[in-house]
Amino acid sequence: MAYLTHFILLLLINLASSQQISNTESSSSTTTNPTTTEDCNNRWIYIRNLPSSFLHGMGLFDFLQSDEPGIWNRHMGHDHFLVMSRPAWDFCQPLDNDPPIWGTSFLELPEFYNVTVLVPEGRAWPWQEHAVPYPTSFHPPNLACFEAWIQRVRRSRRVSLMLFAGGGGIGASPNIRRSIRTECENANTSMTKDNTGYSQICHIVDCSNGICEHDPIRYMRPMLQATFCLQPPGDTPTRRSTFDAITAGCIPVFFEEMSARSQYRWHLPEEKYPEFSVFIPKEEVVFKGLKILDVLMGIPRSEVRKMRESVIELIPRVIYRRHGSSLGLRTKKDAFDTAIDGALQTIKDKLNDLSEQ
Ligand SMILES: *[C@@H]1O[C@H](CO)[C@@H](O)[C@H](O)[C@H]1NC(C)=O
Ligand SMILES: *[C@@H]1O[C@H](CO)[C@@H](O)[C@H](O)[C@H]1NC(C)=O
Repeated sequence: MAYLTHFILLLLINLASSQQISNTESSSSTTTNPTTTEDCNNRWIYIRNLPSSFLHGMGLFDFLQSDEPGIWNRHMGHDHFLVMSRPAWDFCQPLDNDPPIWGTSFLELPEFYNVTVLVPEGRAWPWQEHAVPYPTSFHPPNLACFEAWIQRVRRSRRVSLMLFAGGGGIGASPNIRRSIRTECENANTSMTKDNTGYSQICHIVDCSNGICEHDPIRYMRPMLQATFCLQPPGDTPTRRSTFDAITAGCIPVFFEEMSARSQYRWHLPEEKYPEFSVFIPKEEVVFKGLKILDVLMGIPRSEVRKMRESVIELIPRVIYRRHGSSLGLRTKKDAFDTAIDGALQTIKDKLNDLSEQ
């Protein structure tokens, strides 16, 4: 989750007046002006300038009330949604933690309870927010470019069995990233090309210290050559790498449901997970000695091919087209279209429920 830097992008759309779409950068009179880009990106999260975390959001609420109060009042905010580009966890500080320990209380503000919120990662029992895919580095401008990529993904030789792109797992405490590292180090010596068909069993792309940021070739090329891409949780359960892997046609392997299955319901239908992904509970690996390698080697080749086809079918829904892309490409729903459809449907259902009460 460490890749997103633009902290807040508010995109408020009001159903009843769809011409009126405003794209507002977060600003608040309660903070001092940021002096550097870093200040600007981090000021809410690290609370350097903020007197109280519950103030985050009040500027927006006041604006919505004062600018065109009729729009809010029509459905008391139930027909509004907003996009916040960090995990919901970062906005859930209890209001009475003052000074706050981490993040802000935006999602704890009763003023915003009625609003539907899109985030890259939701809480364990989200009622207000919906998770949407992290943006990858692939933003095709037209159909030809998109189709050329799909062809490349389909034809790519998958020379390694499994790949992990990321950091962590170095310390002594048992966790899934550490188990992956250990398994990878041991796999090289015990397996050969002859008995597996792969020239490499496990490929680790070291992305520690942010070295993969803004350098997608580092991990996309190896992902194109791998059959399975491991998606262990890190600081939080979700990873942008899940969407990089899908874009590369690499079958994602999840270790907990919170990493994707309970998150991206609009984009990755829950019932399809067995078709396009592998699930290995992390406890089995970390504490019970289950080998990831054995699980993955146990999947028949024909099954693997089918799974990869299912992954490839998901690609249009998880990519964000380039802004101003060709009409041809716009006939396919991308991650953005799917998110908007999901948000509007959620709002319609909510308004129906409310009118029946
Ligand atoms: C949220 O909606 C309820 C009714 O469903 C309403 O009573 C409440 O005032 C609304 N909250 C805000 C901040 O508008
Ligand atoms: C495994 O072996 C390959 C080829 O010999 C090497 O490129 C790769 O870095 C090794 N992987 C690990 C995790 O040591």
